Amino acid sequence: MIENFSTLVTEVQNRHVSVRRFSDKPLEDGMLDAILNTARRSPTSSNRQTYSIIVVRDLETRKKLAVLAGNQQHIVDCQAFVAFCADTTRVEAACDMHGITMVKGLELTLVSSIDAALVGMSTQTAAESFGLGAVMIGGMRNHPKAAAELLGLPSGVYVVFGMSIGWPEKEPPTILKPRLPEELVIHREKYDATDPREKMAEYDRKLGEFYGARNKSESAWTAPIAGHLQNHPRPHLRGELEDLGFSFE
Ligand SMILES: Cc1cc2nc3c(=O)[nH]c(=O)nc-3n(C[C@H](O)[C@H](O)[C@H](O)COP(=O)(O)O)c2cc1C
Repeated sequence: MIENFSTLVTEVQNRHVSVRRFSDKPLEDGMLDAILNTARRSPTSSNRQTYSIIVVRDLETRKKLAVLAGNQQHIVDCQAFVAFCADTTRVEAACDMHGITMVKGLELTLVSSIDAALVGMSTQTAAESFGLGAVMIGGMRNHPKAAAELLGLPSGVYVVFGMSIGWPEKEPPTILKPRLPEELVIHREKYDATDPREKMAEYDRKLGEFYGARNKSESAWTAPIAGHLQNHPRPHLRGELEDLGFSFE
């Protein structure tokens, strides 16, 4: 099916793999700017453009960010680290220019985070289309206030996730991490609420084989997810985001 409908863009998307090991080769001048300016064409809620991108090349800052993200070495080893932030400062200034006090709320928190995510996804696809490798870093939400301080973020801005970008150390694999079966995630006309467990167990086996073939110690899918979700992964998140000027009302 996919093969019948293929474009340069879908070819890149169908090759996607997160890359965490990078060579020392620098990015060519202007390449990152071309990628980020392409990503700026992403759709954005009500054209509000409530995001900001911070490019971090400085090694010392990246070392500190790597620690905040739980010692993720690829933040140090990559050629450029990019932080995708939800940013409500400009829309607040727009309100102020018209004598209006902006109402903060869950909707603004959500759409600014969505805006940042869409630009981040476009950045990854654009980077991959140049042959670069990248990995998103949700670990940036481990310590949102410390990350904000390090990057000089004003109130109303937080890092939704980061991205390590660089030339892959070796050719990216051609066998890709399998995804959940299509029928579990694509519903036709109405949500199909059939118990997904049997298909999830099949997926556990498939993913286990994938990891096994790569001598990776990761468990399959359901067990690590259950392990992670038995506790709130970031119990301080809401309080820290509120301190950074975001509302959940
Ligand atoms: C929002 C988001 C946050 C992520 N955070 C991390 C992270 O902190 N560290 C990491 O190594 N990978 C991270 N990833 C990458 C995922 O682990 C990866 O996309 C997933 O396992 C699927 O593998 P693939 O991208 O190679 O197909 C993140 C992905 C997303 C979408």
